[in-house]
Amino acid sequence: MDSQDANDEYKAVTSVLSSFHNFHSFQLKQLVTPRLREFAALSTQDQELIPWYKKHTEFLQQCIDINREFCQTVADKIGGDWGIDDSPADWSAASQEQFGQTQAVILRLMREWSDQGELERKVSYDLIISHLNEMYPDKVGRKDVKVLVPGCGIGRLVFELVMQGYWTQGNNSDHHALFLSNFILNHCQFPHNYSIFPFLATSASSSTKRQNQIRPVTIPDASPTAEIISAMEKERGTEVKIPFDELMSITAGSFTDLYGPGFNDDANSASQEIRSQSQGEFDVVVTESFLNDSSVIDSIRTINNVLKQGGKWINFGPLSLRSGENRLDLSREDLFELVTKLGFEFTTKQSDIESTYCEDVRSLDSVIYKCDFWVCKKNNSV
Ligand SMILES: C[S@@+](CC[C@H](N)C(=O)[O-])C[C@H]1O[C@@H](n2cnc3c(N)ncnc32)[C@H](O)[C@@H]1O
Repeated sequence: MDSQDANDEYKAVTSVLSSFHNFHSFQLKQLVTPRLREFAALSTQDQELIPWYKKHTEFLQQCIDINREFCQTVADKIGGDWGIDDSPADWSAASQEQFGQTQAVILRLMREWSDQGELERKVSYDLIISHLNEMYPDKVGRKDVKVLVPGCGIGRLVFELVMQGYWTQGNNSDHHALFLSNFILNHCQFPHNYSIFPFLATSASSSTKRQNQIRPVTIPDASPTAEIISAMEKERGTEVKIPFDELMSITAGSFTDLYGPGFNDDANSASQEIRSQSQGEFDVVVTESFLNDSSVIDSIRTINNVLKQGGKWINFGPLSLRSGENRLDLSREDLFELVTKLGFEFTTKQSDIESTYCEDVRSLDSVIYKCDFWVCKKNNSV
């Protein structure tokens, strides 16, 4: 890596770390300052109509302070892992967009690693895992089944697949999710070790009670380190030997750049190595709420590239999580046709499975996606 690249990487990493470290100042500006301003603008008579308002604003401030403790712990630990010893005051500043990403990834942390996200997760994870286990009923043999999870978010699905005995590699491109997955997978020895307040930014006007905004969730609901140690202890003295501690890995970078077909002139040597080692290597690719997030044709071609002949692709998700992002604007029918043209044959297909994504279960504004689930077999390389 030349010095310009090293400088760019330092800036990219430390600006995301800053967006965790200074998240409290963003939350104060976003959530507290406007409330104080609006309240001050009311007449004394009107202020007396909502006597609880100031107290609730103080509660919000206290919750922001508890989020600060968590976010600064994440920044400290991850900064340490990256060998960054400068003080946070010397890190690159975070942009407003990066602070927004921290806000969003904290909601995703609630979905993937708290009890409150369990019902939502189960809709897709249970379907995926039950179909996978039907294909590979012998748990001990699963360590030889290579599974790739592109767009693995904060790593929960990767962890669940490892606990089922599969050799699983997750991949993700955004630093926010990667830092949190690193934190949960490597720095959380105990379940429910941290309290966070993920719903502060959910408007009280979309809730029956203002208290819903200031309810905590504890994370992680399962500690990967503890669960892996306990699973291996249970094996002691038995014939069963599943090397749970060797089954998990996560790669950082764009899925199509790291795993796409051919040679990528722009990639660094570590990426080239992953690329050259991945072609036709995987037995299964699992995509969960991923397809809509990136270029769909390139993604499907890349899935085809990494799968062995006859390998399986399991997908769950809505066509598009956020409108306007699916630039090709393909319908479900169009997508099915595309999948077939890109070398796959559907073996299982279910549509209109209702699911939410990062939903605050107590919010009055609920978005329900009608999701597709499928299992495809790779018939041809493309
Ligand atoms: C909607 S989230 C799904 C997360 C996860 N599958 C889950 O269980 O909730 C999509 C994830 O894909 C990642 N992503 C989007 N485009 C990507 C790409 N080209 N390569 C790798 N990851 C990508 C995003 O950073 C995000 O973490």
